[in-house]
Amino acid sequence: MGNSDGRRLSVSLVDVADGHEKDFLTIARHFEALVIRKDYGLAETIRDEAMPLRFYSVCYWTDATAAERCHRDPEVQALTAQLYAIGQVMHVVNGARRHEAARLLLDDRRARVEADRRAGFDRRVKAVGRAEGDRRRRRLGPRRVRDRGGEVDLVGAARRAREFADAAFSNFKVGAALEAGDGTVITGCNIENATYGLTICAERVAMFKALSEGHRVFTRIAIVADTESPTPPCGACRQILWEFGGNLEIELANLQESKGKLYLKDLLPLPFDARLL
Ligand code: THU
Repeated sequence: MGNSDGRRLSVSLVDVADGHEKDFLTIARHFEALVIRKDYGLAETIRDEAMPLRFYSVCYWTDATAAERCHRDPEVQALTAQLYAIGQVMHVVNGARRHEAARLLLDDRRARVEADRRAGFDRRVKAVGRAEGDRRRRRLGPRRVRDRGGEVDLVGAARRAREFADAAFSNFKVGAALEAGDGTVITGCNIENATYGLTICAERVAMFKALSEGHRVFTRIAIVADTESPTPPCGACRQILWEFGGNLEIELANLQESKGKLYLKDLLPLPFDARLL
């Protein structure tokens, strides 16, 4: 790690959970593009030819402050949270860490926390993916709309899903359409219950359906209600969407028109997630 000229290098080893290579490569491409776009340096992803599902993520930072800015970047943190859900990450070379005496204690404590957390991720990663190994899965469930070319009409899908809402108590029907990293669209609608507390929102139905079908990377969600002002996700849904989808793009619409797009980090600015455990 020669950094006499101020340039620094970081290398992380990533073991991707079985069945999640495509998701990992989607995250890696996003990260590589982001590192260039924000002038943090250059990132590349190298496959370990001897070890299936093992990759090396190499970052050549512009300088030490670029590395620090990158680690603090909410967009990067959202991608990292997604990565931790599908793989085990080990920092082999950390060119971003400053060697200050005052940080030594902190680093030591952090190392122990990271080790504990890794054990947690291990459990989580082991519990996802296919038990039957490499056997091809028959596609049940949602269609892959993107194959037809062009941008997916996520709002249209959410409007159609809304028709299935079971909102006998509030009469407030909501539809949601979630796009996974591979272009699959998974929809949801709100389902109410006579014991009101068991009601579940359209967004969570869509996310839980998607997770139960093996999706782990998400890009966008559209939410539709029959209201003049946009209907944003409730607090519980924001937390669930962040946990599993990271900084999703959210499009809010009614039955006639789109009401605009925003990012989840703007609706949940100081999130609690696995990085804090
Ligand atoms: N609801 C959703 O499904 N999504 C939202 O973003 C807001 C609220 C549902 C829950 C309940 O069935 C009804 O709308 C009224 O709160």
